[in-house]
Amino acid sequence: MYKIQKAEKLNENIYLMVVEAPRVARHCEPGQFVIVKIDETGERIPLTICDYDREAGTITIVFQPVGASTRKFAELKEGDAFRDFTGPLGCPSEFVKEDIESLKKKKILFVGGGVGAAPVYPQVKWLKEHGIDADVIIGSKNKDLLILEDEMRAVSGNYYPCTDDGSYGHAGMVTTMVEELVEQGNHYDVCIAIGPMIMMKFVCLLTKKLAIPTVVSMNPIMVDGTGMCGACRLLVGDEVKFACVDGPEFDGHLVDFDNAMKRQQMYKTQEGRALLKLQE
Ligand code: FES
Repeated sequence: MYKIQKAEKLNENIYLMVVEAPRVARHCEPGQFVIVKIDETGERIPLTICDYDREAGTITIVFQPVGASTRKFAELKEGDAFRDFTGPLGCPSEFVKEDIESLKKKKILFVGGGVGAAPVYPQVKWLKEHGIDADVIIGSKNKDLLILEDEMRAVSGNYYPCTDDGSYGHAGMVTTMVEELVEQGNHYDVCIAIGPMIMMKFVCLLTKKLAIPTVVSMNPIMVDGTGMCGACRLLVGDEVKFACVDGPEFDGHLVDFDNAMKRQQMYKTQEGRALLKLQE
């Protein structure tokens, strides 16, 4: 069993949990994920790692209840436990393998949207720990929905919050913030975008125009996270890939987002049935 050390509601629909999982904490790297099961018969839920503490042996997960299983997760309290907490899974972010000195010469821009701020955080933190300050843009519908602000400010070079309704930070989409930074004369060697599929699609369309190589994380389309269900199949250039075993990160300029979004809709009926059952 994997005990929940801390359970916190970050805003009306996003939850943070610190879970005791020493083996995962010892081996995980930014970009990887875990598979969580609430009990013996529970659904396998892939969740990206938001933070890890190797000494304390804990992993921080942040999630948004969207289906029946994640709604059950949200009801768990401090002291409760998950039945399974498997990981670390997936490939670590590419930069983890790069030579630190050449990485230090690069200007990196992160773009996160909504709960996508959670997987952005360990990457920016890792870079900070290695002497690299990255710029970070995080977008949300309004100020109340922005998460991990203090944490992000503490590890990023420049932090640019954006809200769709203009209630805080830059008023508008994350893409207009990217354009503004480039117009101001900022040069970026790489952009890492993590968030809703539609956000990643439009960030990629823009960065292609601006000739900024872009990496995206295809976590949103994963189901079982083991390469067996086939749900996370996607087209990257002319190759077929599986987000959970070949990724979750891919060259965003090669990803066929329209196809991936269509596949994401395929499980809506089953998900709806599971939710109805939960309400019975
Ligand atoms: Fe099932 Fe990747 S999530 S094969």
